[in-house]
Amino acid sequence: MRHLPYIAILATLFISCQHKQNDFEVQKELKYCEQQARKTLAQIPNDSLFPRSISKGKTNWDYVDRADWTSGFWPGILWNLYQYTGDKLFKIKADSATRELASNAYTASFDHDLGFMLYNSFGNGYRVTKDSSYKKVLLAAADSLATLFNPTIGTILSWPSMVKKMNWPHNTIIDNMMNLELLFWAAKNGGGQKLYDIAVKHALTTMKNQFRPDYSNYHVVVYDTTTGRVIKRITHQGYSDSSMWARGQAWAIYGFTMVYRETHEQKFLDFAQKVANVYLQRLPKDLIPYWDFNAPDIPNAPRDASAAAVTASALLELSTYVGEKRQSENYFDKAIAMLKELSSSKYQSREKNDAFLLHSTGNMPIHGEVDVPIIYADYYYLEALLRLKEIENTHKLKF
Ligand code: GLY
Repeated sequence: MRHLPYIAILATLFISCQHKQNDFEVQKELKYCEQQARKTLAQIPNDSLFPRSISKGKTNWDYVDRADWTSGFWPGILWNLYQYTGDKLFKIKADSATRELASNAYTASFDHDLGFMLYNSFGNGYRVTKDSSYKKVLLAAADSLATLFNPTIGTILSWPSMVKKMNWPHNTIIDNMMNLELLFWAAKNGGGQKLYDIAVKHALTTMKNQFRPDYSNYHVVVYDTTTGRVIKRITHQGYSDSSMWARGQAWAIYGFTMVYRETHEQKFLDFAQKVANVYLQRLPKDLIPYWDFNAPDIPNAPRDASAAAVTASALLELSTYVGEKRQSENYFDKAIAMLKELSSSKYQSREKNDAFLLHSTGNMPIHGEVDVPIIYADYYYLEALLRLKEIENTHKLKF
């Protein structure tokens, strides 16, 4: 009897901890994603077209072909939904959309985006099915991506097409951090140590050259190909050369967290936290960033839900690596708060269209895809929901 009050306190604590984790209904939001994706499946004209965004005033997706940098996100969504539902329809559709992209791996390397295109499609497909034909394509893609690495500079040439067009002899964009995941995967799966070394060197050089003292990043760094020296640090999709472009910072949070996962080197974990902290400190109250943290028309500037989705997914992973309990909980709680906001009627598309989310901004400086649904927002939103479910079930992350 004497112990009862203590047991009651413990029980209350346990229930309130449970409540803290469970008052966000992850299953409900996953079900929502499944239903929206079924609507898209019913609309897609054929397997060689990939949903990319929904233009203002329209309700149907605009489609792109296999060569577009976003082509891997839809197959990735289908693989994740197959994993979640076990429904063979998702597997069949994921497989055919994925196979449509194979030729990208065997074309002379044209862009760092090979990672987005092929790791999200074939990589998720291999993770879920272990189909060896997917593995072959992934290894070819990694070898192709590695041909863009310049050892004098220590980074991958992100945009070969900009070498002449913009007179950027060797350019590296922060987004490129995401595509190191393909190289790490290939190094572990028969592709060799060289791919691992390239990924680590790229991350180290980016860490050194692409960040300001406050840990916000420059979108593009242009290098001299003979000396390896930095020529200039500029933006392409952000507001200005000195501003913090929201998705660029989100790519960095995700990228350095992933590099820590693959290397277990403390310096990458410390860096991921610094990069995350400046983003978190500067967020508006509802935790969904304006497209650029320095946009001149805040609070009327468009938001970028895609940056929020990428960041939520990254913070969930980061929270599982950070040893200090308070910080780890802060990343976890912030990720859930972001997911809650994204799951509200303000950000979910619901009956308005077939996407999961509204209000992403792709390329503001050219007025491209401003304040619209974009497929990569949906991809990382679904990934974050699945990660949360995984953490709640197992207290760690398996993918
Ligand atoms: N290039 C990828 C992005 O727009 O974030």
